[in-house]
Amino acid sequence: MNIQLPDGLRVAEEPEGLTLTNGELSVRGDFTRLKRRIREENLSRELIVRAAKFRDKNIPLTAFDATAGLGEDSFLLAAAGYDVVLYEYNQVIYALLEDCIKRAAADPDLKGAAERMHLICGDSIAAMDKGIHDVSLIILDPMFPERRKSALVKKKFQLLQMLETPCADETKLLSSALAAGARRVIVKRPAKGLPLAGKTPSWTISGSGIRYDCYPVSNMNEES
Ligand SMILES: C[S@@+](CC[C@H](N)C(=O)[O-])C[C@H]1O[C@@H](n2cnc3c(N)ncnc32)[C@H](O)[C@@H]1O
Repeated sequence: MNIQLPDGLRVAEEPEGLTLTNGELSVRGDFTRLKRRIREENLSRELIVRAAKFRDKNIPLTAFDATAGLGEDSFLLAAAGYDVVLYEYNQVIYALLEDCIKRAAADPDLKGAAERMHLICGDSIAAMDKGIHDVSLIILDPMFPERRKSALVKKKFQLLQMLETPCADETKLLSSALAAGARRVIVKRPAKGLPLAGKTPSWTISGSGIRYDCYPVSNMNEES
């Protein structure tokens, strides 16, 4: 792989999978650690699965993840039956995620979900601005500035944050998502963080550290 990386960082092909490392710490995509969470008895309690639930059972389980990262949110949705298109514009993070999905597809416990994940390297704002009318749900999880500073961020994820840049235009990201043609937009935020672009959600699914803000688009009376 021939991609420019910040000084001190490199991507290595380890036996466990494609790995971003600085020689001391390393990070790779890994869905195996989500196996317990995707068990039938646990999955419906996942915050993102609850945020993605539609009352109307005729709504297709199709989602668009505009900020894929290492794909964990999308993997949980895919495990819940969603077909997910994922956009990631950072080429290194894209390569880590592509490798992670490939490994998951070879694991019988993860295969079904992995096969429902369709990864694209590119800018999701451009894709949303063209209109994506065949998806029910859009997920946004742009890096928030406070996450970069947080002491709670595991050290190894700080490596990833050396590649990511905080969202430059939150208002544009959210307005593109709301106009793209999906029924609902879900935004992941820190539990006590401000809503994205200052826009109050219609409802929220909250956990101890994070929450999902929900914005219905086509039917303003819709509830989770
Ligand atoms: C905080 S991470 C997402 C983590 C993800 N929700 C997960 O569960 O692993 C945000 C990611 O979105 C990507 N990103 C931000 N804006 C984007 C855009 N407009 N198009 C594509 N990728 C974008 C960043 O490069 C970064 O990898």
